[in-house]
Amino acid sequence: MKVLYREDLSTILYTETQIATRVAEMGAQISADYDGKPLVMVGVLNGAVFFLADLMRSIRVPVSMDLVAISSYGSYSSTSGVVRIMKDLDESVESKHVLIVEDIVDTGLTLNYLVDYMRARNPASVKVAAMLSKPSRHRVKVQLDYLGFEVPDEFVVGYGLDYAQRYRNLPVVAVLKPEIYAGHDTPPNL
Ligand code: PRP
Repeated sequence: MKVLYREDLSTILYTETQIATRVAEMGAQISADYDGKPLVMVGVLNGAVFFLADLMRSIRVPVSMDLVAISSYGSYSSTSGVVRIMKDLDESVESKHVLIVEDIVDTGLTLNYLVDYMRARNPASVKVAAMLSKPSRHRVKVQLDYLGFEVPDEFVVGYGLDYAQRYRNLPVVAVLKPEIYAGHDTPPNL
């Protein structure tokens, strides 16, 4: 089958089937870990909504969802670690088990901020599910309780990840050809 945006991609890292298999495994693990516990999954807009929707449907215990939106200050080409909540939680997470859902952990600064932010709201626990992680880019120690895949330090798109708002609907995870973002000093998400 023809892959959407194929001419813009250098390598396909994970296919739809590989992603679906991994998400199902993560869902089974989460279902076992949270059986009988009040679980709320907190997705981080925008990229994580794809992973959140798939992961949530693979969970076989009752679960609710909430969404937060954050904005990072500083250079557009790297996360500064100073973030602002643009859309807060709709419901209190007090006494609930919080599972933060991220599409990718790059420097880890956003995630660390969010973990602290959730912990300050008196939840029963805070854990993290991330679809992708770039270990070579981590600048802080990050808590990754459930991880889909590790990816190399390249510009990856698809399954929610964008470049200039494109490619989010690509159903695979792939490396973007450098010439697509040529002209920028660094890719905006690296
Ligand atoms: C991405 C990703 C994380 C963050 C990770 O979001 O979804 O929230 O960057 O970076 P860090 O580990 O270096 O902090 P982005 O700002 O690209 O927003 P988007 O999901 O709306 O594309």
